[in-house]
Amino acid sequence: MHLEVVADDRWSAVVAARWAERLAAQPGLRQCLPTGTTPVPVYRDVAASVARGETSFARAEVFLLDELGGLPRGHPARCDTMLRRGLLDDVDLPSGRFHRLDPDAPDLADECRRFQAEVDHGGLDLVLLGLGTNGHVGLNEPGSDRTAPTRRVTLAEETRAGTGRYGVTGTPPTWGLTLGLAPILAAGEIWLLVSGTVKAGILERTLTDPIGPQLPASFLREHPALRVMADRSAAAGL
Ligand code: PGA
Repeated sequence: MHLEVVADDRWSAVVAARWAERLAAQPGLRQCLPTGTTPVPVYRDVAASVARGETSFARAEVFLLDELGGLPRGHPARCDTMLRRGLLDDVDLPSGRFHRLDPDAPDLADECRRFQAEVDHGGLDLVLLGLGTNGHVGLNEPGSDRTAPTRRVTLAEETRAGTGRYGVTGTPPTWGLTLGLAPILAAGEIWLLVSGTVKAGILERTLTDPIGPQLPASFLREHPALRVMADRSAAAGL
């Protein structure tokens, strides 16, 4: 594991710069991207780099890590909406190179198989992940083992409550679709992005607790090319 701790006010710029370097070295990069609050400033900085002509997604492939169920298409809390508004609307990724799990598909098991087949058609070079305060990655909630496939999941109560900060009002979603831990761990590289004091406790536990399904992010430590990119606030307990 490689741990990189960056000053809070430089964190997103450093992550964006590493990512831009990765794209420059491999323009056809097959990458899986998360949504939520953590990547927002990173996406802003990468989009600015694309606008300056320094970075391009023209030959890349982007896979969306997960999706919430039960929200109408275009809802601000849909992961699809967050990634489009936060990044894809502002970069040069051709629309056919964006892959996602569709929670409105008539058969969700089929939809998960279809998405996984797109992932497997070339694999994933890089997976960027946020870290849930309950230790989830994607929507692989506590109880998920390292063999967990891409699938429909029941959301943990903490995850449901957290959807309020993405703009869910009323009853929060009860389920979602997620890239499994198995295909995450099969990727060439994993970057775990962690920022803010609110993540300090769970980051410390992710890196030091026994590896197991009670803390799905702990399985990332078994990956040979894990890079943890934390700001100083999130790294306070390390
Ligand atoms: P956040 O979500 O970036 O909004 O904190 C991370 C997660 O729950 O995976």
